[in-house]
Amino acid sequence: MKSGVKRFLGRAGFDIVRTNNNRGGVDDFIPFEATMRAARAADLSVGDYIDEVMNGTPGATQFTIDELRDLGVFTAHLDTVLEIGPGSGRYLEKTLKECSPGRYEIYETAAPWSNYLVDTFGVVARPTAGSSLASTPDGSVDLVQAHKVFNTVTFLFASRYFFEMARVTRPGGRIVFDVMTETCLDPATVRTWATQGGAGHGSYPAAMPRQTCVDLFATLDCSLEASFLAPMGVASTEVLVFGKKA
Ligand SMILES: C[S@@+](CC[C@H](N)C(=O)[O-])C[C@H]1O[C@@H](n2cnc3c(N)ncnc32)[C@H](O)[C@@H]1O
Repeated sequence: MKSGVKRFLGRAGFDIVRTNNNRGGVDDFIPFEATMRAARAADLSVGDYIDEVMNGTPGATQFTIDELRDLGVFTAHLDTVLEIGPGSGRYLEKTLKECSPGRYEIYETAAPWSNYLVDTFGVVARPTAGSSLASTPDGSVDLVQAHKVFNTVTFLFASRYFFEMARVTRPGGRIVFDVMTETCLDPATVRTWATQGGAGHGSYPAAMPRQTCVDLFATLDCSLEASFLAPMGVASTEVLVFGKKA
């Protein structure tokens, strides 16, 4: 892989491991072994290593977690958490510092990282092939989250996951994910992406209209409670927090 592409993927927070069922338009991810070795050598958790060293954005993951805490996302009763595309587990690890769910389910296409998360954090890995949460029953999850996933997959994958996220969330539960909306895409930022956004790979960074998300989730009994910008690559992404009607 060309070094420019590697740098670009690193900034995006990708896991560069080839998988057969990653249908999100991104088929190269951060190599598991090499990243773990590098993180150990730097004496950092793998999540902090990705933030600080690979992405050059120290504290980026913690920033989102802090915002979610301030919004009360972790003070609700969280018995079951589900995360789509946890990758290295940088959000998962920090989520588990904020709450102690009885079950933490993951849907992750990169097998080495999925296995590592199961072994390290005792999470439950569900079969992942595309955009279905088929192993999770309706209305069974208190918090469903996905970070830096829906700007790496195509529109159809993201929107199919949206329906599934609403289905598995229990009444009164929350759904948290980020998308690169029009809020993140003023002309100057589009220019920044165009000139500094790297080599271009797969679907990253894929945009998704904010109003489309708000209107769609409203039809699924989920209303937008809050939103904020978080750093992503050379610019930002918008984190949306939905609550499902109790
Ligand atoms: C850019 S990485 C973000 C990883 C992690 N959430 C983070 O922010 O560090 C995207 C993640 O989504 C996973 N992924 C890609 N397509 C997926 C799919 N269709 N279903 C579930 N996970 C997927 C990738 O393997 C990768 O771990």
